[in-house]
Amino acid sequence: ADPLVQVPELLGSPLQGLRDTSALPLPPALYLDEQGRGRANSTGADLTAPAQRLPLQAALEAVRVEPVPEATAAEVDAAMQRLQAGFASWNGTPVPQRAAILRRAADALDARLPEFCALLVKEAFKTQADCVAEVREAVDFLRYYADIAEQDAALMQGRGVFVCISPWNFPLAIFAGQVAAALVAGNAVAAKPAEQTPFVALKMVELLHAAGVPADALALLHGAGETVGAGLVAHAHTAGVCFTGSTAVAQIINKALAAKQNSPIPLIAETGGLNAMVVDSTALPEQVIDAVVQSAFRSAGQRCSALRLLCVQDSIADGVVEMLKGALQQLWVGKPEQLATDVGPVIDDEAHANIARHVERLKRDAKLIAEAPVHDVLPRQIRPVAFELERIQQLGEEIFGPVLHVVRFQDSVDEVIKDINALGYGLTLGLQTRIDSRAQRLADEARIGNVYVNRNIIGAVVGVQPFGGEGLSGTGPKAGGPDYLRRFTAEPRVDAPA
Ligand code: NAD
Ligand code: ALA
Repeated sequence: ADPLVQVPELLGSPLQGLRDTSALPLPPALYLDEQGRGRANSTGADLTAPAQRLPLQAALEAVRVEPVPEATAAEVDAAMQRLQAGFASWNGTPVPQRAAILRRAADALDARLPEFCALLVKEAFKTQADCVAEVREAVDFLRYYADIAEQDAALMQGRGVFVCISPWNFPLAIFAGQVAAALVAGNAVAAKPAEQTPFVALKMVELLHAAGVPADALALLHGAGETVGAGLVAHAHTAGVCFTGSTAVAQIINKALAAKQNSPIPLIAETGGLNAMVVDSTALPEQVIDAVVQSAFRSAGQRCSALRLLCVQDSIADGVVEMLKGALQQLWVGKPEQLATDVGPVIDDEAHANIARHVERLKRDAKLIAEAPVHDVLPRQIRPVAFELERIQQLGEEIFGPVLHVVRFQDSVDEVIKDINALGYGLTLGLQTRIDSRAQRLADEARIGNVYVNRNIIGAVVGVQPFGGEGLSGTGPKAGGPDYLRRFTAEPRVDAPA
């Protein structure tokens, strides 16, 4: 894996503590364009203007999350028939026209940023920092895939009806990214969002239709994974599946596709991670703590990229653990809509019960380092918490919440990487060291999709840090990277020589 260059953060870290509750300043420029003006990601927004403010309060008052009915089996079948019939016309639409529709949708989404932020706060309990970053990521996906499709226009022949199944933890960015990629490549799309977050997906689909995606090229099918999701995967018209979610569900889908009696169907699966950060004795402790707090606790740990396992070389471990205790006391656990909040509630009762069970078990079986205090008491809150374990092997499966596991190691950093590889996941890895050659060697040894050096391990930037894992973490290709669209396309037809 190539270690990723350090880029400045989109927003201040929780430790810097944005405590102004009136309004959120838009993020600082990530890099400068040729004229030396600031740009945010690939959106090209000019941020040299006086600080813009996000009118989130008004949007929170204006938007209402409404229930979305589940699709019946008959509705799933009717949608698949409609999409199958609409595919040829959409696939025949010139690529620049398909790309222009995505760009129109990106502009519309950008213009409606406060409204979509408010939806994410209300439906997914995202903090302000997380919802701004997510809307911007969705805009980036739309524009980036439009650009790549135009560059590779000759290859953009769709396969047929692509089924896109997405998770609740990025209910806008991942949903929109999957759908945009499949559409611009020429496919008709059946989109199945997570059952916890249907409304923001509905609004995004309305926006795509308004931007020009025909009704028979994109259908939204809401419902449970086991019924609607499984029904779409099994449908005879399904020509490809793009799935982001847990490793266990990816394995179920893989088996269901393998059991189908037609030609092999491609599966793009982006799944879970047991992500580690390895800290050697040369690392800068302040930088480590800042990276750990963001990676393990931001988004309440509900990111596939989030840090689960911190491996610290023994000689500096006492100091790092002491600083971690202090950092946990600084976190603001409270209402997601308040700017002060670093960590909001988790998504639902089931998630809460799973994480709480894990925390209770570790309180018996491991050494508690510290637990964050709670500022506003709400349902489904998990206090960010860190435990010390004896061995890496005590970690089994992904725990999708704000729980950090710390392990000390004595000598060989390479042995630690071997143990991390042996976990079988391969999504993100952090390396904290001031020895360049070591960072490069460990990044080469790690079987991990995204390796970050001397920074946090979350928030891959579209078009800059293509994102995706290996092993139990997914099939590739990397989302937000130049090769992603090709997996959605058919092999180009070549005329036989006369
Ligand atoms: P999940 O696997 O429970 O559900 C994901 C989607 O699959 C949902 O839409 C669900 O309805 C659907 N589904 C469930 N059972 C199905 C079935 N039998 N057939 C077809 N579809 C089915 O995951 P989740 O809880 O929504 O999301 C959290 C998980 O997603 C975590 O494991 C996280 O690591 C992973 N994730 C991975 C990435 C990545 O890029 N690698 C990104 C975000 C989330
Ligand atoms: N792409 C998201 C991240 O990097 C999941 O955190």
